[in-house]
Amino acid sequence: MYVILGASGNTGSVVANRLLEHGKRVRVVGRDVKKLAAFAERGAEAVAADVTDSEALTRAFAGAEGVYALTPPNVSSDDYRAHQDHVTEAVARAIEATGVKYIVTLSSVGADKSERTGPVLGLHFMESRLADIPEINVLHLRAGYFMENTLPQAGIIREFGMMAGPVRPDLPLPMIASKDIGSAAAEALLHFNFYGQGSRELLGQRDLSYAEMAGIIGKAIGKPALAYIQLPAEQIIMAMTQMGMSKNFASLLCEMSESLNNGHMKALETRSESNTTPTSFESFVQEVFLPAQRGKAAGV
Ligand SMILES: NC(=O)c1ccc[n+]([C@@H]2O[C@H](COP(=O)([O-])OP(=O)(O)OC[C@H]3O[C@@H](n4cnc5c(N)ncnc54)[C@H](OP(=O)(O)O)[C@@H]3O)[C@@H](O)[C@H]2O)c1
Repeated sequence: MYVILGASGNTGSVVANRLLEHGKRVRVVGRDVKKLAAFAERGAEAVAADVTDSEALTRAFAGAEGVYALTPPNVSSDDYRAHQDHVTEAVARAIEATGVKYIVTLSSVGADKSERTGPVLGLHFMESRLADIPEINVLHLRAGYFMENTLPQAGIIREFGMMAGPVRPDLPLPMIASKDIGSAAAEALLHFNFYGQGSRELLGQRDLSYAEMAGIIGKAIGKPALAYIQLPAEQIIMAMTQMGMSKNFASLLCEMSESLNNGHMKALETRSESNTTPTSFESFVQEVFLPAQRGKAAGV
């Protein structure tokens, strides 16, 4: 039996589907079982549990051999770091209470650092907390920068005719499609080929800067001169709070961007076959960005 947290989300849905394809017993977890109906139709057990509730997670983890764990973002939280620690503690207690032996987590590049990494700091503390649990096998997937982070750019392009954000235009980022993280997590859970405490970086198909991504998106949407500009943190925080994020979360994102910009937060591994994943940014734009952009434009 495998338990998948965040099963209706970007990465968890891929993990759950892949395990079901392999005929595995899967328990999918989310706040609302209705959102998990497609998995239930394919034979999964759907369970409603809040990831901050250790007793509910303990019930959800009962009898599991393997768990896919993540900290679902709560971008409207006024204390995002406290939210992350709350989730980590609930997950850790459920692991301790049930004795589940194999855990794959969604962590991040930069989780090695103990300060100034914004939301990634919560993943640093998640890794440390799980390290305190004896006799478990944990693989922390330290993912690069999600390609999905570019989706809000569709609205910015529509309104201002350009892309904008807090990251330097020329900074190469390990851009990864979230579905490739789900695939890597599923592979690890299918083979249980990790022992003790470990981490593995996932760096996407290649490094790309925002300037390069603007070129690729611009070509795909028929605006080949599309530019990206870096904006100061105050302006970004104002825009993000207007989009519904808390000031606290928006400030943490700016802290993270600053640490990317100045090199404090970066991949530790050199690129290799094992940390490179298949989906190119060009494919992501065709398969995810453009449909999302058209949906938004049509008011879907
Ligand atoms: N963005 C990046 O560049 C980046 C890079 C590295 C790592 N990360 C990490 O990636 C993680 C997010 O992964 P993801 O994109 O796969 O997540 P996601 O798509 O946001 O999905 C999270 C899922 O969790 C469920 N959920 C939300 N709150 C919940 C709660 N309180 N209790 C139970 N379930 C809840 C939601 O489903 P329901 O609505 O059905 O409950 C949602 O579908 C974060 O930890 C982030 O730090 C992100």
